[in-house]
Amino acid sequence: MNNLVIAVDGPAGAGKSTIAKIVAEKLNINYIDTGAMYRAITYKCLENKVDINNEEEVKKIAKNTNIDFKDNNIYLDGKIINEEIRTMKVSNNVSNVAKIKEVRYLMVDVQREIGKRNSVILDGRDIGSYVFPNAHYKFFLIATPQERGSRRHRELIEKGYEVTIDEIINDIIKRDEIDSNREFAPLVKATDAIEIDTTGKSINEVVELVVSKINI
Ligand code: C5P
Repeated sequence: MNNLVIAVDGPAGAGKSTIAKIVAEKLNINYIDTGAMYRAITYKCLENKVDINNEEEVKKIAKNTNIDFKDNNIYLDGKIINEEIRTMKVSNNVSNVAKIKEVRYLMVDVQREIGKRNSVILDGRDIGSYVFPNAHYKFFLIATPQERGSRRHRELIEKGYEVTIDEIINDIIKRDEIDSNREFAPLVKATDAIEIDTTGKSINEVVELVVSKINI
């Protein structure tokens, strides 16, 4: 593996994407939000009125979808969908899409291809444990459900979504349960990952902690 690959995994709302984005800028490498890919497939299914529990239909959609990242934007079949994938409707359905093995194969292929061509930091659930088991650095971020819920709540309110903190905490607990218990490539801490509890820590503190472990 010639390019630098950094894996950032952990449960929903632990601060992975915020931290990974800043670390990417500091190190001048690419950032890939792998959760956004599963959200994009889910969004497309919902838009096409596909029943998320109908695995065959979901697989068909995933096979016929193009997902791309450019300039901090995510493209679904050529269209920017940064905001559309952040709704509660997508959040409530995404883990049932992400547990389908064939959907994961397709997404993982894209992720590995990106890692082959570029130095990259990826955030997700299975990056250190499955997608890049030989990643140069692996981090596993955690925080209490209360803290994760209030962070997500703040983010969504700032973006203009009307959601309650209880709805969000329920969503993240439910997603963590499905993500941790799925058969294929579940949410799990890689044995060689560095665990960071972000509860009560500022963004800056966590970024500094991550960067201090990386030698390039
Ligand atoms: O990171 P985010 O919370 O946006 O991820 C949304 C969902 O996508 C997760 O709850 C999980 O079901 C799925 N996911 C996954 N594997 C990844 C990244 C995300 O299964 N590597």
